[in-house]
Amino acid sequence: MDKQTSSLKKLITIDGPSASGKSSLSRSLAKKLSWKWLSTGVFYRGVAYLALSRKIQKEAQIAHLIDTEDWLVCLNEDKTCFIYKGVDITHEVYTESVDEWASTLAGFSLVRKALLPYQRDCFQKNRRQGLVAEGRDCGTVVFPFAGLKIYLTAADHIRAARRTSQRGSLPLEDVITLQKKRDEQDIHRVDSPLRQPEGAFVIDAGAYGFNEMVERAYKKSYKLFYLGRDNEQFDP
Ligand code: DC
Repeated sequence: MDKQTSSLKKLITIDGPSASGKSSLSRSLAKKLSWKWLSTGVFYRGVAYLALSRKIQKEAQIAHLIDTEDWLVCLNEDKTCFIYKGVDITHEVYTESVDEWASTLAGFSLVRKALLPYQRDCFQKNRRQGLVAEGRDCGTVVFPFAGLKIYLTAADHIRAARRTSQRGSLPLEDVITLQKKRDEQDIHRVDSPLRQPEGAFVIDAGAYGFNEMVERAYKKSYKLFYLGRDNEQFDP
């Protein structure tokens, strides 16, 4: 795939609520397009991990950590890694305690602002190859200039079942309660709340099997970036 027919930025954003399947969809889409993949949540998780391990809770101090600590996010084939002092600690940032704190500090404007240049840099470094980025505010705030914005929705019970099958440590009712709390935080925060980006291509994860969903996103992307066909009726 070496022909690009449009001048669109080779950047696709996929936003949506937690456990809607953004990571799986975006990772598979990036693979099919041979583009890089970025899960922006890892930034909040990594910073939450740093703040927890240093027992820092104040917004300004956490934001300061971002510019002073020795960390980086690296994009591997099918993994967004968080490296701290040269050690890959990605596994440690995907735990329930980090989940909770990441969601809280994602509401801190100073933290969001401090992370923006690092997130955008991921696109700058991969703009020739292309980047698929997933998160909550990728299409609205981090990458408003993306060539394609996808918004993934899914019913509460589908998301909770996904989360349970991924982690499995909590009963389903507890997962739903935690999920509702996290949704509230994501949707109602003052800075960069979870929103459907204007002009987004909306996919309801409950309406398709996984492969079908990836195919839909892939066809849309291929037509747009490689055939230069944007405004035609989408043919599934
Ligand atoms: O997608 P995730 O579960 O790895 O995200 C971790 C936390 O970071 C979650 O509480 C939502 C938040 N987040 C955010 O506020 N903005 C993003 N672009 C990505 C994640």
